[in-house]
Amino acid sequence: MSYETILVETKDKVGVITLNRPKALNALNDQLMDELGHALQQFDQDDAIGCIVLTGSEKAFAAGADIALMANYTYMDAFKGNYVTKNWEHIRQIRKPVIAAVSGYALGGGCELAMMCDFIIASETAKFGQPEIKLGTIPGCGGTQRLPRAISKSKAMDLCLTARMMDAQEAERSGLVSRVVAPEKLMEETLAAAATIACMSLPVVMMIKDTVNRAYETTLSEGVQYERRMFYSTFASDDQKEGMKAFLEKRPPQFKNS
Ligand code: CAA
Repeated sequence: MSYETILVETKDKVGVITLNRPKALNALNDQLMDELGHALQQFDQDDAIGCIVLTGSEKAFAAGADIALMANYTYMDAFKGNYVTKNWEHIRQIRKPVIAAVSGYALGGGCELAMMCDFIIASETAKFGQPEIKLGTIPGCGGTQRLPRAISKSKAMDLCLTARMMDAQEAERSGLVSRVVAPEKLMEETLAAAATIACMSLPVVMMIKDTVNRAYETTLSEGVQYERRMFYSTFASDDQKEGMKAFLEKRPPQFKNS
């Protein structure tokens, strides 16, 4: 498949996807979401890839769902067309880690897309927000659900109800992003983090992603039980043997992803 709205490249063991609709500040339309889903699945199936980075331009990670597309939607267009659900949820099926590298605007669906990634590294220029209220609608791809879990109910209400933007420093203080870096260092730092992850044991990386995500979906005692079962299962892997042996022999581990 050739892509028109995204750029796809690999850097060693890291797959990089760049949203690329610059004239519309990477507004997320159906074509882009279809192409993004396809590219993510390709990287997920590629044994040579250990981690995925999703980024946008310097000015915008993504300024939201495409307003021109939605402007004349009827209820039936949205409901029968399964809008959003049909192609925005692909990213949740990806088993390898996906890091969002965010510069500039991450608004509405752009903020929601970043939140669907496993963690966010932000440039000092990043701005996050859920301004749908100004358009007479509400967030439609998890903003009202993921934002309170990430930054507390009070801050999520503030952002969703006032439509104000949160800068990178506030986003880091609030726990939405894991690190803030200088704009010129965004890709360097993100690729370094992705490369570090890609050198770990891939099955263990996938278990950690799965287990941390469990924390969002279940009770503490169920989650801890789930973690315990996953932890025990690592002792059936060659990579656990290699990782611990390498530590004791004071050498770097050579993981075989088995
Ligand atoms: N959809 C479609 N086009 C968009 C867009 C969007 N979400 N955001 C920006 N664009 C387009 C603009 O229409 C403009 O196109 P033209 O040059 O053809 O006029 C181009 O991108 C550049 O935008 P601006 O001229 O507005 O740039 P700016 O620097 O003055 O402002 C901005 C930047 C503050 C991000 C402003 O563009 C903006 O407010 N965008 C809309 C943000 C928004 O409301 N997002 C939520 C969308 S709804 C949603 O996402 C629902 C959901 O939960 C699924």
